[in-house]
Amino acid sequence: MKALVYHGPGKMQLEDVPKPALREATDAVVRVTKTTICGTDLHILKGDLPAVAAGRVLGHEGIGIIDEAGAGVTRFRPGDRVLISCVTACGKCENCRRGMPSHCEQGGWILGNLIDGTQAEFVRIPFADTSLYAIPAGADEDAMVMLSDILPTGYECGVLNGAVQPGDTVAIIGAGPVGLSALLTTQFYAPANLIVIDLDDNRLEVARQFGATAVINSADGKAVGKVMALTGGKGVDVAIEAVGMAATFGICQEIVGAGGHIANIGVHGTSVTLHLEELWSRNITITTRLVDTVTTRLLLKTVMSGRLKPKQLITHHFALDDIIKAYDTFGHAGRDRALKVILTNQIALGGT
Ligand SMILES: NC(=O)c1ccc[n+]([C@@H]2O[C@H](COP(=O)([O-])OP(=O)(O)OC[C@H]3O[C@@H](n4cnc5c(N)ncnc54)[C@H](O)[C@@H]3O)[C@@H](O)[C@H]2O)c1
Ligand SMILES: [Zn+2]
Ligand SMILES: [Zn+2]
Repeated sequence: MKALVYHGPGKMQLEDVPKPALREATDAVVRVTKTTICGTDLHILKGDLPAVAAGRVLGHEGIGIIDEAGAGVTRFRPGDRVLISCVTACGKCENCRRGMPSHCEQGGWILGNLIDGTQAEFVRIPFADTSLYAIPAGADEDAMVMLSDILPTGYECGVLNGAVQPGDTVAIIGAGPVGLSALLTTQFYAPANLIVIDLDDNRLEVARQFGATAVINSADGKAVGKVMALTGGKGVDVAIEAVGMAATFGICQEIVGAGGHIANIGVHGTSVTLHLEELWSRNITITTRLVDTVTTRLLLKTVMSGRLKPKQLITHHFALDDIIKAYDTFGHAGRDRALKVILTNQIALGGT
């Protein structure tokens, strides 16, 4: 089968690799029909995640059709349409049982990281019963792909960890698909002001269409002063970091108001200075989280009802064969006005 294989920082290639086979009774092999690229894949290519070994098939998002199910899989049968969660959960270990499957003893975020991922024609999914979701009849398949990672990530790591309350002033640093997912889902809680900061005017314009009350291009280095002016010098109740850089985490530390929250989402590859000499007396909370995907069902229902419209996040479509082109587009989002790209596995559609 064809798969996008990582060969160390800056190197990847679409290659022929063996089709995955069942290894455990609880595995399923899924024929991937649609997948996408995440900002985290860009971090992997930058070398920010050294645990990802050369030879790994990338990708942790997508939907597909069950091709084979192990004898221990009870909830899915070949032919079923499924949503693949970016987090693999055994459902039984201590961390799964306490609602933290991101740290499942035998799973967690392993797809396209520690085991081969979804940017391929087929993918092996361990613990299929607790790591896949049935796709409801009538669902928009492109929209479903947004539920593998970015919507639960924006919601869990950003909005829930940030403890957004009605009337809050929320700043989101980073208007990529994850930051915009936080922007969409933070509106469940009716914040009063929603400030979005990025370097890309196109993404900021999208943020405005998605409900931002103010947008700031931070390229001039003046974002902190602008946020302080917008908040009457008080700072924000919740600062959501959705980039993964020292500079953007730094902005969060400078704009968080007394009693506020900094909710980090970004994957960081280098150390960040924590300014406790400024923050020790400010009653703030800093949270970090690897997405647990414990809200996937809730978000699926909001998508099916039409209340949440993640399809707006999709700007480009490619065939899986053109994945290198798709990486170029997603990696040059400003140039190509790109948000989420959908990759369709033509072979899957052709039914061979
Ligand atoms: N915690 C988790 O479980 C989890 C899950 C998924 C993604 N992530 C991380 O979330 C982050 C966002 O993901 P994405 O897919 O939206 O990525 P993305 O690369 O598409 O978006 C990042 C955005 O940050 C902006 N940006 C870059 N440098 C900036 C700066 N100095 N100031 C302001 N804005 C800047 C870019 O213009 C871009 O719009 C990434 O770090 C990704 O790895 C974390
Ligand atoms: Zn991701
Ligand atoms: Zn577990």
